[in-house]
Amino acid sequence: MNSVREGYEKHGVEKYYELHKDDYENPHEYTIKKLLVKAKEEWNIHGSILDLCCGSGEVSNCFNDCEVEGIDPYTKDLYEAKTKNKCSSMTFKDIIKEGLNREYDYIISSFGMHLCEESMLPMLLYQLSQSSENLIILTPHKRPDCNGSYFKEKSRMKMDKVSIIWYKKH
Ligand SMILES: C[S@@+](CC[C@H](N)C(=O)[O-])C[C@H]1O[C@@H](n2cnc3c(N)ncnc32)[C@H](O)[C@@H]1O
Repeated sequence: MNSVREGYEKHGVEKYYELHKDDYENPHEYTIKKLLVKAKEEWNIHGSILDLCCGSGEVSNCFNDCEVEGIDPYTKDLYEAKTKNKCSSMTFKDIIKEGLNREYDYIISSFGMHLCEESMLPMLLYQLSQSSENLIILTPHKRPDCNGSYFKEKSRMKMDKVSIIWYKKH
């Protein structure tokens, strides 16, 4: 698979994930795992977890001792096959419209929420804040910045250009 960014440029996000819904892989998976293992211990991540934009389970597979569910509109089948966890196929727009139907100790989103249109991000964050006190983002970009009316940054770490940021509801 070419780089994900090249794929977005060539096809657009939606078409890219329709094409790769069965073979999506993240070339940064090793870094994601290292960051999550460290964060899990240092930030004491435990309990129920929603893996938002769950891809093929890059985050979920680091939490085999927790109760984990996924959400992803394109890779639901791949995720369920690889993790054996339940997955919903809601899009950002669905979450904004309907909210999540339960509470989680943590919502974790890796390499996903920057795909939410900037203008929709506050509404998405509002809905996430109704379902969890803790939001953790892994991203190689400056976006998404989740500081604002609903969440405030508590801590962050960085490894190989990937940041992990822990936001608390406020
Ligand atoms: C770069 S992948 C990240 C996957 C995984 N979390 C990881 O760290 O590798 C982005 C994910 O966002 C999902 N996605 C794309 N558009 C979306 C949308 N409108 N709403 C929710 N998820 C979306 C894709 O299906 C894809 O699995």
